[in-house]
Amino acid sequence: MQKTIVALIGCGYWGKNYLNLFNNDGVFGGAFLKYVHDLNPPTKSLPKEVTFAKDIATILNDSDVQAVIIATPTKTHFDIASQVLKAGKHVLIEKPLTLHLDESEKLNEMAKSMRKILMVGHIFKYNHALRELKRRIDAGEIGDLRYIDARRVALGPVRYDASALWDLISHEVYIFMYLVGSAPISVNYSGGGYMDTIDEIVSVNMKFPRKIFASAYANWAHPVKERRIVVGGTKKAIVFDDVNPSEKLTIYDRSIEYLPNPNNFSEFQAGTREGDILIPKINLSQPLVTEVEHFFKCIQGTETCMSDGQDGINVVKVLEAAEKSKKLGGAEVFL
Ligand SMILES: NC(=O)c1ccc[n+]([C@@H]2O[C@H](COP(=O)([O-])OP(=O)(O)OC[C@H]3O[C@@H](n4cnc5c(N)ncnc54)[C@H](O)[C@@H]3O)[C@@H](O)[C@H]2O)c1
Repeated sequence: MQKTIVALIGCGYWGKNYLNLFNNDGVFGGAFLKYVHDLNPPTKSLPKEVTFAKDIATILNDSDVQAVIIATPTKTHFDIASQVLKAGKHVLIEKPLTLHLDESEKLNEMAKSMRKILMVGHIFKYNHALRELKRRIDAGEIGDLRYIDARRVALGPVRYDASALWDLISHEVYIFMYLVGSAPISVNYSGGGYMDTIDEIVSVNMKFPRKIFASAYANWAHPVKERRIVVGGTKKAIVFDDVNPSEKLTIYDRSIEYLPNPNNFSEFQAGTREGDILIPKINLSQPLVTEVEHFFKCIQGTETCMSDGQDGINVVKVLEAAEKSKKLGGAEVFL
């Protein structure tokens, strides 16, 4: 099979991870990385076969290039992705898709009319531990899902174009919708921090159908790195700890039980129930490897995109609702 010819635009903190997937001959997953472009030439030397393109036009005008991976700051996504789609190339773009809903919708329409793949790098869809968590929720292991509680904190990286809502909580919005299987009904926002222009510390509450309450807290000025999601059900709770190198999921056979009050059957009595703690073995592989291999398979037509433009739009819709809540002083905004 002929190799898919690709290019990478944006080779900063996250873009370098894409570059590192490719071997010394510029090959990975049945694709060949022909070009890398960035406003600043990468400090790390490129594989010998890979060319540094000094402008985007070099990539757009090369009809051999079938697909472009975009890992530039979010505020540039719309402009760059529009150019790439107009040039008739598939796109894998970092999350969040754009900073405005109308732009995300335009990109999705453009991709559809050009019959090109628009895949959004919502990396947690490709995280095996998270998929296992979803499998266990769907199998009814925790009973009825009641709450999701997430913390994403670390020292940096600091952003100037996007707040912790767009940069960090965009992950939780995607994960929550994936785990619950639907969009939230309402959102409310609270935030603060050091800069006047954007919030580095953000907390968002989301209400989902079936009385599911979800809460996400993110802070990029935090001294300790934590990436933890707790899902609680009527029977059990599961903790997903993305920082733990091997024990990604811990299952707690613990819950609150509401039993009829024997003295008054119209009332309930709450009691705690504490059972075993289990750490299941999960075959872990690098989510970015799975994500990019999937993108190439979508181009070759052997797989269907699992984080497409519509997924990107759904996340941006919730983030915009959270922005609206911020403007309303944290009021609950219905979607
Ligand atoms: N999936 C994830 O877990 C994850 C993690 C971090 C960042 N991201 C996303 O990746 C994107 C990039 O983030 P980052 O942390 O790498 O940012 P960064 O600032 O470290 O890197 C961005 C790079 O893009 C280059 N650039 C800026 N404007 C450009 C343009 N017009 N044309 C070409 N190059 C340009 C910059 O020179 C820089 O090298 C953001 O959308 C961010 O949300 C995703």
